[in-house]
Order: sequence, then C-alpha cells, then structure tokens
Amino acid sequence: MKKTIAILLAAGKSERFGNQIPKPFLFLKQKPIYQYSLEVLIDHPQINEIILVVPSSLLEISEEIKSKYKKPIQIISGGKTRFESVHLALKAIDVSFQNVLIHDAARPFLSSLFIDGCLSALTKSMAVSCAISSTDTLAETSNNQVASFPNRALIKRIQTPQAFEKELLKKAFSIAISAGNTSFTDETSLIHHHLSTKIMLIDGNEENIKITHPLDLIIAEQILKKQN
Ligand code: CTP
Ligand code: MG
Repeated sequence: MKKTIAILLAAGKSERFGNQIPKPFLFLKQKPIYQYSLEVLIDHPQINEIILVVPSSLLEISEEIKSKYKKPIQIISGGKTRFESVHLALKAIDVSFQNVLIHDAARPFLSSLFIDGCLSALTKSMAVSCAISSTDTLAETSNNQVASFPNRALIKRIQTPQAFEKELLKKAFSIAISAGNTSFTDETSLIHHHLSTKIMLIDGNEENIKITHPLDLIIAEQILKKQN
C-alpha cells in the first residue's frame, strides 16, 4: 500500500480578501477555516501524515493544533509564493511517502469523497485534480477586448485537492526552478507546463469554494448551514 502525505496550504497573504488575519485563520462559525479541511484529512484512513503550511508569524500558535489530533502533523512556514510554499513542504516529506495530496486551506468544504476519488485515480494516472464545469461563458481577452471564445463544454475550473506521485511532482519543481519559471497558481498547471504527463480530472463540486473575496465567507456560512 502506497503511503500518502497531505500538504494543506495556509501560508498565503489573502490580498484579495484584504484582512489583517490571513483568511485560513478567520473563523467560520466555531472554528478557523483551515481546521475544516484539516479534520477531513485527519479522518481519512488513506492520509498517513499532514504538513500544514502556515505564515511564519503564525507558526508558533499553529503548533498548538498538533496536540488536538492523533495523526502526525508537521507545521512549517510557507514562502512568498504558492510555488515556494509547496516546494518547502516537498523538502519536508519523509522518503517513505510515494503520493502527495495538496489542498488549499482556503477551501473548507473538502469532502472525503474527493480524497477517495483522487487516490483511486492516482493508481491509473500520475497526476489528478478535482475540477468542475464553468457555468459562465468564458472569453479569452486582449486589452479588455474579446479575443476568442473557447468552447465552454471543454472548459473546466480546476479546484483542489490535487494528487501526484511524489517523484513526478519533485521533477516538475526542479525543472521549473532550472527554467526560472515558477509562477503557477497550482501544481497541475506547473506539471502541465513542464512535463507531458496526462493529468486526470475527477469531479469536484460547486460547494468546494475557495474563500477568495469577503463575499465568499458569507456563501461559506450558507453552505455550512445547508450541510448541518
Ligand atoms: N498559499 C500558500 N502560500 C502562498 C500563497 C498561497 O500556502 N505563498 C495558500 C493560501 O493560503 C490558500 C491557497 O494557497 O489557502 C490558495 O491560494 P489563494 O486563494 O490565492 O490565497 P492567497 O494567496 O492567500 O490569496 P491572494 O492571492 O488573494 O493573496
Ligand atoms: Mg494567491
């Protein structure tokens, strides 16, 4: 049985949200946003260990969370970019792990079904991501004018979790660093850019929102109400 480690990313600056406290640490009802997905990872039998990546200013306080749970959790400081945060987490992974599952702590509605789906697809493909269809018509633009309309039926919005064979992910990082091309918003786009690996998509869902703007927190409260 391959061992899987989860990286939970909570080290961003939340610039679009615009709050003093980074958004994964804001409260959604009774607990901080990051704790929702952390607990799903903790409860999932195929996740053997978790690396929680936090801003350096919150490292000490975050350490306290470890004693709450039985599963091993490493807490590390993130970097200036997502690429750096994931790279730092990759360096902290023990050699015994073959699979890596990455999730945005800003997505509180992680479902264990997404983890099941990612890990099951990972037996057939080296890279997997959750994705959903787009309900809006999407346009490619140039200077704020429409350049083209991609076929919406073929367009997907990429979410997390995403799962990878660890060695593949490490290879993509090292190629990206050598090429000096490290500005990616997620790891599937990094892999797609630097390697020819097929990336399998599985169904995420509309409730798996990423808290990005303040309105998303109001939406998250409603989703939580509906779920309980
Ligand atoms: N993230 C991270 N380290 C970074 C940047 C992002 O761990 N240097 C994490 C965020 O904390 C978040 C997830 O990656 O959980 C998705 O990123 P995003 O929604 O872009 O969060 P922020 O980068 O914090 O927000 P913004 O881009 O608005 O500043
Ligand atoms: Mg960001």
